[in-house]
Amino acid sequence: MAAIWNLACPAEVELSGSGLSGLDGLAERIRERSAIVGVVGLGYVGVPLLVAAWAEGFGLIGVDSDPEKVKGLRRGHSHISGVTEAELGWAGDDLMWERRAQFSTDPRVLIAADVILVAVPTPLRDGTPDLSLVRSALEDIAAVLRPGQLIVLESTTYPGTTEEIVRPLLEATGLVAGHDFALAYSPERINPGDGRRLRDTPKIVAGVTPVDTELAALFYGALVEDVVRTSSPREAEMAKLIENTFRQVNIALVNELAMIAPSIGVDIWEALEAAATKPFGYMPFWPGPGVGGHCIAIDPSYLSWKVEQSLGFGIGFVEHARAVNNRMPEHVVGRIGDVLNEVGQAVRGSRLVVLGLTYKAGVNDVRESPALNVLQRLVAAGADCVYHDPFVPSVAVSGRRQSDFVKVAPGTASEGLPRLQSVPLTTELLAAADCVVILAGHPGIDYDAVVEAAPLVFDTVGVTRIRRAGNVVLL
Ligand SMILES: NC(=O)c1ccc[n+]([C@@H]2O[C@H](COP(=O)([O-])OP(=O)(O)OC[C@H]3O[C@@H](n4cnc5c(N)ncnc54)[C@H](O)[C@@H]3O)[C@@H](O)[C@H]2O)c1
Repeated sequence: MAAIWNLACPAEVELSGSGLSGLDGLAERIRERSAIVGVVGLGYVGVPLLVAAWAEGFGLIGVDSDPEKVKGLRRGHSHISGVTEAELGWAGDDLMWERRAQFSTDPRVLIAADVILVAVPTPLRDGTPDLSLVRSALEDIAAVLRPGQLIVLESTTYPGTTEEIVRPLLEATGLVAGHDFALAYSPERINPGDGRRLRDTPKIVAGVTPVDTELAALFYGALVEDVVRTSSPREAEMAKLIENTFRQVNIALVNELAMIAPSIGVDIWEALEAAATKPFGYMPFWPGPGVGGHCIAIDPSYLSWKVEQSLGFGIGFVEHARAVNNRMPEHVVGRIGDVLNEVGQAVRGSRLVVLGLTYKAGVNDVRESPALNVLQRLVAAGADCVYHDPFVPSVAVSGRRQSDFVKVAPGTASEGLPRLQSVPLTTELLAAADCVVILAGHPGIDYDAVVEAAPLVFDTVGVTRIRRAGNVVLL
């Protein structure tokens, strides 16, 4: 079993010895905040890390292959919902040049960084982990690696990645981890959209040697309240996958229950609310149109793939949960068909307002979004769809034809646009719809007004459930 112990026992002893060669001085630079923190991959994970490091007084080097993101961040524009422009303190800061905040598409600038955090995507390609972006980011770092740097992989990945892929890439330079440079894994645990500060979520860290662990723990101890060490990167990599598999499996459980509950005469929402009153041994999860984003929809498959490689079979829970969650968009469209049928309508030709296209409430992320999948299926079935999403100004939907319906929302998309645009949520639009379909429960939307104005509402996320209005049907 992995040993876990807390930052309460800092390891000055390990970090101050004379045997540390290239790493001598790094701990001091971190403590004094004179260290420069480089972040590779300036997305949902990378930008909050930049913000946290800057707030602590570190200099910054941000690197991303996307020139638009680099340009925007340099000017202080946030492309991440939940990170306000006010938090991008380097733009307009008089101290900018003193403290060095630099953004570039050229990874060679990382030679000046003391600490380099890697937060590039780890997608699936045909169901198989695709670590090509991790590899290319690490190859870029290897090209500038010098003694005295701390490199930390933050991207979510399967156990063994840090030791079996990242370490050899960096040590091919001739420099040695734990001696010349430090190497650690620290999974990111942010939950975009929930408003929680990075500082308040404990950070798991594990180096490839105890020295690497202590340097990483020292650095993250500056950014967060609690640092949790595991004895090797494998346990830290696994911990992240356990967390997201736990969510995927529990969401699939309530989704499967939601699918069968009507057939046994049960209101699943009421039953889940009642279950959630148990003060111990239960954690509430709620049904929805499926799972999406870059984590829950992907990470458990990294784990199952790794197990399959080693044992010849995947993880049954993960495979079943994936199948249940992937079936949800189709189930939702079937339920919409039933609901319309009840009022004498077919899906084809019905006028639908879709509310929320992101994979969850309060974010601007449509990656793997089941809501988009539902919208696409409704359009393919011939429904006349418009959507409103305060976080998604426009979206590509194939086969969409514009109709008179959209004209009741003034100033919206015109005929022939390749992308569908978010329409204003007016009383007229809601009243003209055959059904309003809620797929993400974004904050800031007046759901009372929606229920009031729309003739029929199909709510897949339960945001209208406390109203128990006669024109609302829950998933
Ligand atoms: N989004 C989340 O909520 C979340 C939470 C925890 C962990 N993670 C994990 O963090 C990692 C990053 O996820 P994300 O959501 O921040 O991704 P993202 O797509 O929002 O950001 C990644 C950025 O990396 C850039 N990039 C890709 N390859 C690059 C390269 N070789 N060099 C420089 N830049 C490169 C992309 O242009 C992009 O801006 C993934 O492994 C993900 O699973 C994500």
